[in-house]
Order: sequence, then structure tokens, then C-alpha cells
Amino acid sequence: MKEKAIIFGVTGQDGSYLAELLLEKGYYVVGVARRVSTSNTSRIDHLIGKEFFVLESGDVLDFSSVYNIMWKHHADEVYNLAAQSHVGVSFEQPSVTWDITAKGCLNILEGIVKLSKTPRFYQASSSEMFGDSFSLDDNQNAFQNESTMFNPQSPYAIAKLAAHKMTELYRKIHGLHASCGILFNHESERRGENFVTRKISKYIASFREFLDVAMHLNIEDPNLLSNYISSAAPKLHLGNLEACRDWGHAKDYVRAMWMMLQMEKPDTYVIATGQTHSVQDFVEEAFKHLDIGNYASFIRIDEKQFRPSEVPYLKGDYSKAKEKLGWIPEISFEDLVSTMVKYDIERLTNDKQPTYSV
Ligand code: NAP
Ligand code: GDD
Repeated sequence: MKEKAIIFGVTGQDGSYLAELLLEKGYYVVGVARRVSTSNTSRIDHLIGKEFFVLESGDVLDFSSVYNIMWKHHADEVYNLAAQSHVGVSFEQPSVTWDITAKGCLNILEGIVKLSKTPRFYQASSSEMFGDSFSLDDNQNAFQNESTMFNPQSPYAIAKLAAHKMTELYRKIHGLHASCGILFNHESERRGENFVTRKISKYIASFREFLDVAMHLNIEDPNLLSNYISSAAPKLHLGNLEACRDWGHAKDYVRAMWMMLQMEKPDTYVIATGQTHSVQDFVEEAFKHLDIGNYASFIRIDEKQFRPSEVPYLKGDYSKAKEKLGWIPEISFEDLVSTMVKYDIERLTNDKQPTYSV
């Protein structure tokens, strides 16, 4: 008998990679997607119609749909990846963020305890829950791990913390095999376009296209060409360049989700790379894909991109995951940036939608 898994949030970045991973492992995968007026399946179009993959229509805000899908499929594992996951948006839409990100998780947990056979459960918790809090190592370097205090700084982070605590409570009071992954930032070529990393990789691709056109203008005087590029090239509008994030690749992180549910006992794990870089570092690394000197003149600081309350520094200590799960990240920061930039350049060059392969 095949193992069966349900993924809430299958249309998102992580949902698409997790679905691929589980199919590779021989699972029967049920993806849950909410009904929207335009298609939201671009990340999983290559899976639709495949044997052992089915898509169900459901919304974590709607308890009946959540329960009915779980009742119908008798899954072994349920992954909750559904969220309003943009921190900046959560300041403008706190109620819907709360409903989807906190209440949505509770709806799934309540559904699970009503089932005759309870599946194992994974909750997508977040390093945002730490907010501005950190621990210090012997050399006074800041980091976060499972023992670090939470001090959330956004409506999104507070909703995530409620879901996190609720999952740990249901583990305790209902004896659920419910695990939480406190995942630090993870990105990929499938990252939503309004997150800072994808915004940068897409920008580099458009700059590269601009350079190709500029080179065909036959401006022979190098000074004139340089002036033309400085004035006419697209500009990258960003907010806080100093914020530091521990960025990994989503493929590594969905592997950790699955590993948690294979453990005999449920638990909570930090998943991170153990390295931190500023937004400025990411910009600098991405600009290495363009043959231009000083990139600073192409950056514009945009006040609108600053958040009312910021998370200044994230660097995860994943020792527990390494020791207990045997998990380590495999994709480096440099490879992550390079993969994203190359993908966006290729996508723009081919002027076509992405085609993914399992
Ligand atoms: P994402 O790309 O924004 O995906 C979120 C998913 O949730 C999408 O499939 C979205 O559907 C779905 N969703 C939203 N509202 C829903 C609703 N009412 N009912 C059902 N589904 C709904 O996020 P991600 O980067 O893949 O992250 C996956 C999860 O991990 C999220 O919970 C996120 O908060 C959490 N997390 C992410 C990171 C990170 O760095 N990526 C780090 C820590 C934790 P649509 O496609 O229809 O919008
Ligand atoms: N989005 C965005 N756009 N962020 C910017 C910009 C910009 O133009 N300019 C600077 N930033 C800064 C933000 O202020 C933040 O400090 C940092 O870049 C990263 O922002 P995001 O990419 O939006 O990610 P995030 O760290 O806020 O949240 C992501 O990671 C969390 C885990 O720590 C999301 O994936 C969350 O869902 C996830 O929980």
C-alpha cells in the first residue's frame, strides 16, 4: 500500500517541491488548492494529471472542506504549508493573515482529532517568530535555536506563533504526532515575486536584457555608452538593505519536513543554514552576473518598502536537526543566488513560462 500525504498549500513554493519529493518517494499525494478566479497552479501544472497525484479544492478557512478532504483520503501524513506568507502584507491585512495563518492551522488540527485514524502532522512554523530576539554563543555571536525566546514583530509572526503553540499543545493534549519545523528563509526559482530575493533575481535578468539591447546601439565612445547605461538602465527599488537573513534553498527544506514526520516521536526543529547575509550581500552576489563595475548607482532606497517593525537579524543553529534527523543543507548561498539569477535570465530570454521536471 502506498503512503498517502495531504499537502495544504500545494500551489506555493514549498508545496510544489514537497509534492515532487513525496511522489519520488512513492507516495500518493493529495494537493489542496483554494479556488481563485485566475489559475494559481503554475508551480504544479507539470504534476496535474500524473498518476498518484490528485488536486482537491479546499480552503483552510473553511473547516468543512478541510475535514471532508482529510476524512475522504485517510492520509498517513498531513502537511500544513498554507499561509498568507508575506510579512509586509501582514501589516496591511492583519485579519486575513490571522485567519489563514493561525485559524487555518487550528481548523486542520481540529479536523485531525475528529478522524478515526489520526495522520502525522507537519506545521510550517517560521524564524519570523523570533522577531528581534536572539541567543549568544561563547564568542558573543548572535543566533537562534529551539531554546531562543520568541518575540514576534509582525501580524504574520504572531499568527505563526499561535499556530506553532497550538500544534505543540495538540501534540500534548491529544497525543498527536504533530511536528513543527521552525524554518528560516528559503528561496528558489519558484519563490513568489514580491519577496526580496526573487525581486532581485528578476531585476538582474531585466538589467541583462537592457545591456543586450544597449550593446546593439553601436555607441562607440565608451564614456557615452557608460553614461547611457547609468541613466537609462532599470533601477532596483528596495527598502532595508541591512536586514540579515539565513537564506537556504527550498529543496533542502522540504526534505527536512518529510524527515520530521519519519521520526518515531514528534518534535520541534530549527531548519537553517547557520549562515547569515544582509540584503545588501544578496544584491552584491546577484550583480556578479552582470559585467558592470559599481552597482550602487542602480539601487534606489524606497521608503514604502520599509516595515513598521523589522526583524533585523536571523541566523539559525540547526544542530538539533543535524543530530536527530541527520539533516544538513546541501545548497550554498552562492549557488542559491546563482540558480535564481540564471533561471530568471533564461526565463526572460526564452520569454516563456517555466517548465519544471520532476
Ligand atoms: P507561499 O509560496 O506563499 O505558499 C503559500 C501557500 O498557501 C499557497 O499555496 C497559497 O495558495 C496557500 N494558501 C493561502 N491561503 C490559503 C487558504 N485560505 N486556503 C488554502 N491554501 C491557502 O509560501 P512558501 O514560501 O511556499 O511557504 C510555505 C509555508 O512555510 C508557509 O506557511 C510559510 O508561511 C512558511 N514558511 C516559509 C518560509 C520561507 O522562507 N519560504 C520560512 C518559514 C516558514 P495560493 O497559491 O492560492 O496563494
Ligand atoms: N519583500 C521585500 N521587498 N523585502 C525587502 C525589500 C523589498 O523591496 N527591501 C528590503 N527588504 C527586506 C525586508 O524588510 C526583510 O528584512 C528582508 O528584506 C526579507 O524580506 P522578505 O523576502 O519579504 O522575507 P521575510 O524575511 O520578511 O519573510 C520570509 O521569511 C520568513 C522566515 O524568516 C517569508 O518567506 C516568510 O513567510 C517566512 O516565514
